[in-house]
Amino acid sequence: MMSSELILKAIAARDRAIAPYSQFRVGAAIETRTGETFTGCNIENASYGLTVCAERVALWKALSEGARDFVRIALAVDASTSVTPCGSCRQLLWEYCGDIEVLACSVRGDQKVFRLSELLPEPFDRLSLGNSPK
Ligand code: THU
Repeated sequence: MMSSELILKAIAARDRAIAPYSQFRVGAAIETRTGETFTGCNIENASYGLTVCAERVALWKALSEGARDFVRIALAVDASTSVTPCGSCRQLLWEYCGDIEVLACSVRGDQKVFRLSELLPEPFDRLSLGNSPK
């Protein structure tokens, strides 16, 4: 799939954001190696803390449908510049997707491409657990 197609899916998902508290609407679209895609939007809650980011909604949808081998995630916001995933989403994306490509886009045209390893250097992961004495 062309990255522009994945970005369009993220932009469309953003329209479904439920963000009455922050008014900050986010869309995400994650792609598997075989070209399957899953979308997500942020879903907020009056408690604030139970809010779920768009990336995590897309990832949970994909994993719960059995998808495993991910290559890219696109993220769309309407801001003057694009944004990158929050720290918690970086950790979860690393766990389940490894070093995928992250396309960070603003519907106003700003676009940046990262590897997840650039956004989460020196990660804590399952390899870290193996380094402790038994
Ligand atoms: N948000 C996301 O969905 N993804 C991000 O990468 C950053 C933040 C959401 C969470 C909350 O609903 C709103 O944006 C403001 O933080």
